[in-house]
Amino acid sequence: MDIEKLIDQLPKTELHLHIEGTLEPKMMLDLAKRNKVTLPYETVDQVAAAYQFNNLQDFLDVYYQGMSVLIEERDFYDLTWAYLEKVHGDAVRHVEIFFDPQAHMERGVSFETVLGGITSALAEAHRQLEISSKLIMCFLRHLPEEAGYEALECACKHKEHIYAVGLDSSEAGRPPELFSRLFASARDHGFKTVAHAGEEGPAAYIKTALDDLRVSRVDHGNRAFEDPALIARLAQQQTPMTMCPLSNLRLKGISDLTKHPIKRALDAGLLATVNSDDPSYFGGYINDNYRAVAKAVGLTAADIIKLSKNSVIASFLPDGQKQNLL
Ligand code: ADE
Ligand code: ZN
Repeated sequence: MDIEKLIDQLPKTELHLHIEGTLEPKMMLDLAKRNKVTLPYETVDQVAAAYQFNNLQDFLDVYYQGMSVLIEERDFYDLTWAYLEKVHGDAVRHVEIFFDPQAHMERGVSFETVLGGITSALAEAHRQLEISSKLIMCFLRHLPEEAGYEALECACKHKEHIYAVGLDSSEAGRPPELFSRLFASARDHGFKTVAHAGEEGPAAYIKTALDDLRVSRVDHGNRAFEDPALIARLAQQQTPMTMCPLSNLRLKGISDLTKHPIKRALDAGLLATVNSDDPSYFGGYINDNYRAVAKAVGLTAADIIKLSKNSVIASFLPDGQKQNLL
């Protein structure tokens, strides 16, 4: 079977996906109209033209502005449903979705509004599309640790819907250890932990994500390759890495996709996975990421099968459900 068909058909999970990063330009403009929000764009082409980034912060500025159109519960429902319908066609069987409640609460949108819309769409997808899911609430690392406690308190009221906490937003100068107490508290409340680390920040941030935040997975982790001892540790522990090729390209973490470390990660025995991060902003959903990186670095059919299996193994699904997808 050719590689493209294999990518289209293999059952897979998506483990690194910011739901706010699935907001397509057309939906952004439609919601701006529906909610009477003023944006600096009037057409889909103008929105798309703004998606030129030199680094993570450039993107985050546009991302936070874009999400200002999300106000009502049904906006979060529509956003989430559109993503799930899209990846149903990519043979995605299970998703573990990030959301950024602090970015909504600081605009006066309640935690329950956000959560209600997202979880209703996830429940509908389970019924209609047979896609299972878990939710990961991210803390914004550009804000102080103290600011995260309000979101954690909200999450504690909705434990049945939130499986893990994560750490995202601006990485440089914001090492994971700044959030040690918040993450310890989240673990005490029974949440699993993950964190973006080594996307732009150094390999040392991956170590402190492991040691201080006790993460079950590293989101991105590209800069681990600067530290051979860390690579050996990640391989030995089989710590999953949720890599995002088109994101790394668009945020200029790599100058061209042929330099993406996914093949090196597989060759080093890492539990690497392919994901889309913020597909609307970075030009591709999960299968687009698989296809683009496979072509650029020359992944074999065996590599693609391995990556799809890794995505299942790296998920938070119980072992019985993993077996059904392997
Ligand atoms: N929030 C949304 N996408 C992100 C990314 N790629 N890195 C950090 N924070 C994010
Ligand atoms: Zn991310």
